[in-house]
This record gives sequence, structure tokens and C-alpha cells, in this order.
Amino acid sequence: MSAAGRSHRVTAPEVAARKGGEPVVVLTAYTAATAKFLDPHVDVLLVGDSLGMVVYGFDSTVAVTPELMIAHGAAVVRGSQTSLVVVDLPFGSYQESPEQAFRTAARIMAQTGCGAVKLEGGAEMAETVHFLTQRGVPVMGHVGMTPQAVNTLGGFRARGRTDAEAIKIRDDARAISEAGAFSVVLEAMLEPIARQITAELPIVTIGIGGSPACDGQVLVSEDLVGLFDDFKPRFVKRYAELGAQLSEAAAAYAADVKARRFPGPEHVFGTPKKQTA
Ligand code: KIV
Repeated sequence: MSAAGRSHRVTAPEVAARKGGEPVVVLTAYTAATAKFLDPHVDVLLVGDSLGMVVYGFDSTVAVTPELMIAHGAAVVRGSQTSLVVVDLPFGSYQESPEQAFRTAARIMAQTGCGAVKLEGGAEMAETVHFLTQRGVPVMGHVGMTPQAVNTLGGFRARGRTDAEAIKIRDDARAISEAGAFSVVLEAMLEPIARQITAELPIVTIGIGGSPACDGQVLVSEDLVGLFDDFKPRFVKRYAELGAQLSEAAAAYAADVKARRFPGPEHVFGTPKKQTA
């Protein structure tokens, strides 16, 4: 199943079946317009709660609400045709109990039409992942640097630099896998840890600051194209500089408006046609 020529929307079981096969391509999307451009090239569109920082200008993802995720998740489903759309469960909407997580996930799935949800956390979330997957909710896990826990982790730094941290990340990933997740994001950890988890676990691993050995990779699209430049993590590769292009376009437009070069005759209505001889 490669992205080109797909006739149906990718499902979570299809992503799960890619273990050890062709790498799974994942990008974030928050709007219908972006989803439309990305959809033909990716397997999964992740409506990440990173939208809190990238779109809304918060300094972490902690302020993101289910209502925001639903609005953006539904837009991405409308804008895409064949990618699996995965929507993040935001902070505070699932950690309290498996029942709370199910209520949030069911609402998000029903109101967006997405095919799976993602939640952050390791062994402490295993019971919840099991509860959800037993009740028809495909779950993507997320371990390592988990942005919703920024206040307890003490910042957005790579994890696994001590033996204890490395063991905890491996245990967390295993717990999420055994609980029934179809895949797990491995974010910002020392490369050998992500490599080892990928080799050891039967589920698809999606790296972001993980390892080239992961079963797939994800990036935040605004990072990919240079539309978010508050900071640039080491794991980001820029494929375009749209932020700079946007700024240049705005400057050129401003100059044209001030010099009355815009609008031209072709942009207004009712201008007399030029006489031809
Ligand atoms: O919120 C997000 O965009 C994510 C990815 C960075 C994995 O969780």
C-alpha cells in the first residue's frame, strides 16, 4: 500500500500491518487546505495538539481543548481523502480514568470522522489503552518526550540520557504495545533506544527525533516547510522556507499597494477593453 493510487482511506490495521515493511509516512495537519496538499503523499495525517503552539501561539500544548481538536480534526477529515486521520486527545481529557478517555475518544471520533486517536504516556496509561482498544477505539501511543508533561519533565529536552530514563522509555513503549495500541510515537530520545524498541516490539514505531530504524517518521508540517520558527528542534529537517516566502510576498504586496501598482486593470471589473487596430 503506497500513498499513490490508493482507492480508500487507510485504516489503523493497515498501518499496523506495515511493521518492518515500507516506512509509514506521517505529517501533522490542522486545516482542510493543508490536508488536501499533504494527503496524496502520506499514510497518516496527525491532527496533533501541537496546533496549540503552532496555530494558536501557546507556549505548550497544555491549553488545548477537545473542542479545538474536534474543529481541526473535522477540517482535516474533510480536506483529505485517503490518509488515516489520527487526532490527539488533549491534556486533561483522558488521564483521569479509562472511562473519561473513552468518552473523549468516542466524542472526537464521532464528531470528526477520524480513524484513530493518539494519547501520551507509558505504563500509567496502559489500562486506558486496553480499555479503549477493547471498545473499538484504535490507539496510537506516544512515549519519550511527551509535550503534555512538559511541566513535570522540566522542558522539551531529549530523553533517555540516564540508564533509568532509558529503561523507563523501553518499559513504557512495551506497556503501550501490550495494551493493544496499533502504533507508538517515539519522540526525542537517544537513537539506540528508539532502534531497540523498534526491534523488540511487534507494533509500528513512528519516530520524531527517534531513529531511522523506526517503522515510520512524523514531522510537524509547519516545521517541515518553515512556517514555525519560534524554535527548531534538532530532529526537524526543513524542506521549504515558506515563512520567508510569505514574508517576501507580503512585502511585495505592500509595496504594490502603496505605489498603486495593485490592483491592475486585470484585477478590477468594468475597465474598458483596449481598442485593437
Ligand atoms: O502534537 C503533535 O504534533 C505530535 C507530534 C509531534 C508527534 O504529537
